[in-house]
Amino acid sequence: MKLFILNHFLCAALLTVHAECVSPLETALSSCLSKAGVRNILDGDKTWAQETLPFQLRLKPDPAVVSFPNTRDQIAAALRCAVENNAKVSCLGGDHSFGAFGFGKPGNLVINLGAFTRIVSFQEGEKGLFTFEGGIRVGPAAKWLWDNHQRHFPHVRAGHVGLTGSACGGGFGSTTRFLGTTLDTIEAVEYMAYNGTIIKATQYTNSDLLWATKGAGPSMGVILTMTIRTWKPKYQRAVNFTLDVGDVDLETGTKALLAIQDFALKDAPEEWALRWKLTSPPYQGTGYFYEDPAKFDQIMQPLMQKLPGGSKLKKDEYDFFTLDSYVAPGLDQPNGGDSPGRAFYVQSLTLTAAQPFTQDLATTLYKYTTYAFKRDDMKKSGYLDLWGGFSQKIKDTEQAAAYGNNLWLIRWQADAVKDWPADGVDYLKKQMLPFEKALRDADSSLRGYINYPDTQLTFAEWRGRLYGANFERLQEIKRKVDPDGLFTSNDQSIPV
Ligand SMILES: Cc1cc2nc3c(=O)[nH]c(=O)nc-3n(C[C@H](O)[C@H](O)[C@H](O)COP(=O)(O)OP(=O)(O)OC[C@H]3O[C@@H](n4cnc5c(N)ncnc54)[C@H](O)[C@@H]3O)c2cc1C
Ligand SMILES: *[C@@H]1O[C@H](CO)[C@@H](O)[C@H](O)[C@H]1NC(C)=O
Ligand SMILES: *[C@@H]1O[C@H](CO)[C@@H](O)[C@H](O)[C@H]1NC(C)=O
Repeated sequence: MKLFILNHFLCAALLTVHAECVSPLETALSSCLSKAGVRNILDGDKTWAQETLPFQLRLKPDPAVVSFPNTRDQIAAALRCAVENNAKVSCLGGDHSFGAFGFGKPGNLVINLGAFTRIVSFQEGEKGLFTFEGGIRVGPAAKWLWDNHQRHFPHVRAGHVGLTGSACGGGFGSTTRFLGTTLDTIEAVEYMAYNGTIIKATQYTNSDLLWATKGAGPSMGVILTMTIRTWKPKYQRAVNFTLDVGDVDLETGTKALLAIQDFALKDAPEEWALRWKLTSPPYQGTGYFYEDPAKFDQIMQPLMQKLPGGSKLKKDEYDFFTLDSYVAPGLDQPNGGDSPGRAFYVQSLTLTAAQPFTQDLATTLYKYTTYAFKRDDMKKSGYLDLWGGFSQKIKDTEQAAAYGNNLWLIRWQADAVKDWPADGVDYLKKQMLPFEKALRDADSSLRGYINYPDTQLTFAEWRGRLYGANFERLQEIKRKVDPDGLFTSNDQSIPV
């Protein structure tokens, strides 16, 4: 696994079979950190396996050193040590990256932000500006905000995910259709740059850096604090529902999807959310409604009339935060609960309202993914999250991530039943190719989702799918803020 030449190791073959190999770079980095008083560990430490365990178990991180700074000065010292030793830096937030990007490429100095989890401030007012440190998880932040101010921000669907990491790549949740993703709510960020200087970015100062944060924050520096807008629910209670079209054939199922899309574009209020399954048949999904719960049945009528007879609709109603903790398990638990890792491979694409599903596109997607999936060593999983609403008010150029006018977030994935199968990635990748071709044939550009990174994409592919025409501006900002590419440390970091 190590990429270094064997005789450069201090370790060795001469020692016991289990001796861990530590390269001169690793030793130098570690002693630089120790001299500066920054706790750090090397491979061989008894906590190493635990501290380098990603949520994504398909990948095995291989950093040089993992450091645990406790203060801003210690972060600055860690950055100096990395620069002196020519190592790249990767920040570890909530460790929930689907590509294990919190550890990044082999040989990185990892800065574990576990000591930076404080709530910094809340400012009363329409925007309800909420500031927290860069290592906090979604759960503790959302719960504190609710307990103290009865407010909410759109967030991912697991309390243990890092808030800063998920915000930089999106943060799509059940309120995204009307409130945007977490990314859309970012008002300010405070970075420590490569040279230890603290840079604040808002719409008034360093607005380019704020723009870049919304899609590529991890490539710019260490995010010390982030400020987001929050929202006060209008209704004390909210609805969750299950919509079930049943075990119908492909044609009926895809027509149902088009009926849903039509409803979303014409009739449904933005407060209506849907996560439709891509593992059909059966064709079904779950949804949420954040307008007046008393209006729900009436709102659903135009859709129910268009769906096949026999389609079933069930609903429940809960207090806002109770429901929010069902949406994002762990939200109300200490530290956002626990979410054990898995070995899986994910691919994601988005469709805009300008190029929505057609019957042909939907048929191709279902046919070659869920219908074609025949494995018992992997379990399929996939969703069509209804976006639209808020995103229809933003343009691609308003933030680094090309998310303007998004209508659907498509995710296709399989999880290993036990060990990740050697042909698993190829198998799943081939399943998406017909849909990608159908999109290209329909003159749609391929668009992706940063928080569901496809680790197999080439540079040309991911820069186009994730950033589109924004990439050049993003790279210019990168060159100013991180000129030597200290934070170009994972496979989808912005290069200098
Ligand atoms: C169980 C689960 C559920 C999820 N649900 C959703 C969902 O509903 N919607 C959605 O959009 N996404 C979802 N995700 C994806 C998640 O949003 C991303 O994986 C996100 O990047 C995780 O952030 P993290 O801080 O936990 O991970 P990490 O691996 O620690 O970090 C992710 C990236 O952010 C960088 N980073 C983190 N903190 C900082 C910082 N302070 N400064 C600079 N860089 C930083 C890291 O270097 C890395 O590049 C889910 C993931 C899991 C595992
Ligand atoms: C609403 O959510 C709760 C908690 O997850 C669940 O038990 C219930 O079945 C859901 N209701 C519907 C109609 O899906
Ligand atoms: C550190 O880098 C930033 C960003 O490039 C720059 O603005 C700042 O002047 C630098 N600080 C020092 C002390 O060199």
